[in-house]
Amino acid sequence: MSFKSPSPKVDTTQETLLFLKRLLKHPLRLGAIAPSSPALTSLVSRHVSVKPGSYIVELGAGTGTVTRRLLEHGIPSDQLYVVELDPELCGFLERSLPDIHVIQGNAVELASLLPREVVGKVSTIVSGMPVSTMPLNLQKKIIDSCFKVMTPDGEIVQYSYHVTSPIPALKLGLSKERIGITLLNLPPAFLWRYQRAA
Ligand SMILES: C[S@@+](CC[C@H](N)C(=O)[O-])C[C@H]1O[C@@H](n2cnc3c(N)ncnc32)[C@H](O)[C@@H]1O
Repeated sequence: MSFKSPSPKVDTTQETLLFLKRLLKHPLRLGAIAPSSPALTSLVSRHVSVKPGSYIVELGAGTGTVTRRLLEHGIPSDQLYVVELDPELCGFLERSLPDIHVIQGNAVELASLLPREVVGKVSTIVSGMPVSTMPLNLQKKIIDSCFKVMTPDGEIVQYSYHVTSPIPALKLGLSKERIGITLLNLPPAFLWRYQRAA
């Protein structure tokens, strides 16, 4: 059974303070100076939909700004899994979004992190991870990890602050498309879609 849940309200001051605290502790891992803006979360959610029997996975959910917008946009909570490396951010996600599946772990291990019934049925992976600053071998591990759990035509929707593709698509056997841009984010952000190259 699928059910939609209204997006819970969060204390945005508390959210921003937590983000800044984790940014000071792990600047490279966070890779942004603030949670994504409403303009960016809206842009992302407009490019994500899910069919019955499929799943959405969000990588690097942070404080859940994109997660909440996906729920508001109609993604059923039981079809949404979020994976976040930072235990403190996971605690915040679990408290503020009690209806969704929060998994604390590394995006390179998706096949073992996700429940068996979800593996192979993920139609879209939304990522806010700072992939552009990761070394190529780590980018490759993450992409391989994504393809282990996605449907054959699955797609990765990645937002980034670089004008150029944050993932070297050709080297990793991907097709790429820039599908959106918003200036109303700090910094301005670009949205990319990647699929396995034909
Ligand atoms: C730029 S923040 C995005 C936060 C949130 N999605 C937003 O848009 O405000 C990047 C997030 O990716 C997480 N992250 C970085 N590397 C990760 C990895 N290998 N696996 C899972 N999460 C990771 C960080 O802990 C951080 O919360």
